[in-house]
Amino acid sequence: MKIAIGNDHAAVEMKNHIKAYLEAKGYTVVNYGTDTGDSVDYPIYGKRVADAIVSGECELGVLICGTGIGISMAANKVKGIRAAVCSEPYSAALTRRHNNANIIAFGARVVGIGEAEAIVDAFFGAEFEGGRHQARVDMLMDIEKQ
Ligand code: RB5
Repeated sequence: MKIAIGNDHAAVEMKNHIKAYLEAKGYTVVNYGTDTGDSVDYPIYGKRVADAIVSGECELGVLICGTGIGISMAANKVKGIRAAVCSEPYSAALTRRHNNANIIAFGARVVGIGEAEAIVDAFFGAEFEGGRHQARVDMLMDIEKQ
């Protein structure tokens, strides 16, 4: 699976760690984030990862900023994106299984390295269940057309 990863200046170290962690598990990870601690604007990176998914270049994404909130808000402005901010693995698994989330987001200033690993393990280890959840995801995506 090809995963897009993006981050702002608050999450360079976390991005590098999670990228290497996922690569060690056999995933291909494409870096769309910043690589220095110089202050940048998180909407740029949220959109880059969202565009990579909507275009089909990558299947799923990881977004990390200080809280995970701003960068996921940016991604969720792009049609076709369902980005979920999660601070623990239970929600990360459920947002794949029920919401068919295509981006997992979290905050480098909120969760530690171990929790971040557990979050991505839960997200990429889960699959969308379809069924009654498909109708709800369809309703969610209909809102984009209104
Ligand atoms: C950057 O200081 C910070 O605002 C950003 O990383 C993020 O937390 C925004 O939601």
